[in-house]
Amino acid sequence: MLHFDDQMTFDFVAPHELDAISGQLELACRNLDQRTCLGSEYTGWLYLPDRENKEELARVEKCAKRLREEVDYLVVIGIGGSYLGTRAVIEALSHHFDAQLPSDKRSGPKIIFAGHQLSSDYLYDLKELLHGQRVAFNVISKSGTTTEPAVAFRVLREVLFRDASEDTFRKRVIITTDRQRGALRRLAEERDLETFVIPDDVGGRFSVLTPVGLLPIAVAGIDIDELLDGAASSRDQEIQDAELLEKPAARYAAVRTLLARKGYTTEILGAYEPSMRMFTEWWKQLFGESACKDGRGVIPLGVDFTTDLHSLGQMIQEGPRTFFETIIRFSNVRHEVLIPDDGTNLDQLQYLAGTPMSEVNDKAMLGTALAHVAGGVPNMSVICEKRSAFAMGELIYFFERACALSCLMDAVNPFNQPGVEAYKSNMFALLGKPGHEKRRAELENLLEERHRR
Ligand code: PA5
Repeated sequence: MLHFDDQMTFDFVAPHELDAISGQLELACRNLDQRTCLGSEYTGWLYLPDRENKEELARVEKCAKRLREEVDYLVVIGIGGSYLGTRAVIEALSHHFDAQLPSDKRSGPKIIFAGHQLSSDYLYDLKELLHGQRVAFNVISKSGTTTEPAVAFRVLREVLFRDASEDTFRKRVIITTDRQRGALRRLAEERDLETFVIPDDVGGRFSVLTPVGLLPIAVAGIDIDELLDGAASSRDQEIQDAELLEKPAARYAAVRTLLARKGYTTEILGAYEPSMRMFTEWWKQLFGESACKDGRGVIPLGVDFTTDLHSLGQMIQEGPRTFFETIIRFSNVRHEVLIPDDGTNLDQLQYLAGTPMSEVNDKAMLGTALAHVAGGVPNMSVICEKRSAFAMGELIYFFERACALSCLMDAVNPFNQPGVEAYKSNMFALLGKPGHEKRRAELENLLEERHRR
C-alpha cells in the first residue's frame, strides 16, 4: 500500500496550518468526487481503476498479444498526454538495457516512440532502423489533428507501408482516438482499422489508464490488470472512511499548497532509480499543464538522484530558498547486488564489503534529505513497496488526484490548457496553413520590426 511521509516538512508546516487549510481541502474533495468542480466534464479518470469497460480491456489484451507475436517493433506515435504516461510506465518497469538485449532474451517487440517532436533527423534515423523490419504503429491522438504525431505518421507510413497490401496495413496500424471526431477516426473508418477509444471525459494527461497507455504497456509485456489494481488501491485509500489529512493524496495536496503559499514556488520530484526518469517527465506535464495558469502555479522540476546531486545538488542545497522536494521511494529493490570484498582496499570501500547496494542508495537518500532540510528545503516522500505495475498504478492515481485537489484548492481548472494554443497558432501561421493568413501578416510585421531595431 502506498504511503506518504511528510515528517521532513514539520519545520516548515505547522499542524495548525494544516488544520486551517483542511476546510478548503474538504471542499475540493467533495467537488471532485461529486463531479461538481471546475472542469468536471473531464473527471472520468476518477473511475478508470474500476475497469468499467471490461470488454474494451479484453480487446486491448487480445490486440497486445497479437502484436507481441507478429512484430519486431511497435512504434507508439503521440505527444503530451498521448505519450508521456505510456513511456513512463514502460521505462519504469522494463529491463534497463531493453534496447540492447539480444532477441533471444526478449519476449516481445521493442517499443519505440515517435511524434513527440518535429526533428527531421530523428525520423530519418527511425526510418533507417525500421526498414525491412516487422513494424506496427499505434497512433494515439484524442483530437486526431495534433501536428507532431500527424507528421510522423505520414512520414513513417509512406516509407513502411507504401507497397503494403490493404490487409497488412489493417493489421499493422492501430488507432487510439476520440469515439467520433477527428482525422484519425475518419482514417480508421475509411481503411477499416482497429481502433481504441479515449473516453470523452478523460483529458490527455489523465489518460494513461485508458487504451492510450494500456495497449502499448501491454505490448511491452507489463501486466495491465496489476497496473489498474494499483490505481484502484490508491483510489480506495482516498475514498475510505478516514480523516481527510490521513489520506495520502489529500495530505500531499494540502502540504504542497501550504508550501506554495509560503513562497516555495518550485517543486522538485525525484527518485533514486534511473528508470523513473520518464515518470518525472509525466508528472511535470501533469502538474505544469494543470496548475500553472494565469501567472500562478508551482514550477515542476524533475530530477534523477543521485545523478543530479552532482549537477543540481549545489543549486538545491544553496540556491534560491524557493524549492521543496518530493521523493518517490521503493521499500524493496527488484534484485539486490552486494558490494564485493576486496582486501587491497585501494578504493577505500572495504568498510562497505558485503553491504547491499540498496542500503547504500537508502543512506544516500536519507543523508540528502537531512542535508536539504537543514539547507531550508522541505522534503516529502511517496513510498511504494517495489518497482512493479501495481506501484505504478498507485503512483499514477495518487499524483492525478493530488494534482486535481491542489488546483481546486486554488480555484484553478485542472483540466484545460489554454496556454498551449499560442505556439500552435504561430507555427501554423508561419507554415502558411490555410485560415491563418491574418496571424501570418501580424507575425511578419513583428519580425520585420525586430529586425529593424
Ligand atoms: O494533456 C493534454 O491534453 C495534452 O498534453 C494532449 O494530450 C496533447 O496535446 C496531445 O493531444 P492529442 O491527443 O489530441 O494529440
